[in-house]
Amino acid sequence: MRIDVITVVPQLLDSPFAHSIMKRAQAKGLLDVHVHNLRDYTPYKQAQVDDYQFGGGAGMVMMPEPLAILVEKLQEERKYDEVIYMTPDGKTLVQKTANTLSLKENLIIICGHYKGIDERVREHFVTMEISIGDYVLSGGELAAAVLVDAIGRLIPGVLNDETSALTDSHQDGLLAPPVYTRPADFRGWKVPEILLSGDPKKIGEWRHEQSVKRTEERRPDLLDDDI
Ligand code: ADE
Repeated sequence: MRIDVITVVPQLLDSPFAHSIMKRAQAKGLLDVHVHNLRDYTPYKQAQVDDYQFGGGAGMVMMPEPLAILVEKLQEERKYDEVIYMTPDGKTLVQKTANTLSLKENLIIICGHYKGIDERVREHFVTMEISIGDYVLSGGELAAAVLVDAIGRLIPGVLNDETSALTDSHQDGLLAPPVYTRPADFRGWKVPEILLSGDPKKIGEWRHEQSVKRTEERRPDLLDDDI
């Protein structure tokens, strides 16, 4: 999968894709992330990419032309499945969206800054608008990093143990059960006996029960959701 991220602060994205699972995904050739500095594509002097709002009001707006130039350049090079805009007024990111997007070939992600991007870019280029939660970040970069991570780890072959994504919280609409590792007795705090039983059927049942219990206690809303 190829992901092109468009930003005015590319430095913010230096680190999130350079370590751990995202690094491995790229080293294996399963994920190809390209970060583009929008200022390199503006036709305006002094690398200008934003301007005052028509109608007045505080805050600058990202101009349509640099975004159009870069998005169209990329679209001439290959076909994109989605042009995603990270914005707090988008649809809230859930696991199901990450699952769907992990099966795509090419994605563009636009990071907004200041007051956001000119509405005409949203109307004419953007195909999906995603929020990572009901709070406002100072730009879309950290949200884009969250989205790329959530998608990237689901690409087949990225995780070592392919089944481990299947047992994540949210993957089956439930929260994940508690997990334990050695030692079996730490300061007298013992691992549940059943996990040491070696009986995969019983362990599976126990884990499912724990998942349901945890979801009922912490996120009952998930049990009503139709996912
Ligand atoms: N940009 C600013 N805040 C955001 C959010 N919550 N989600 C996505 N993009 C954003």
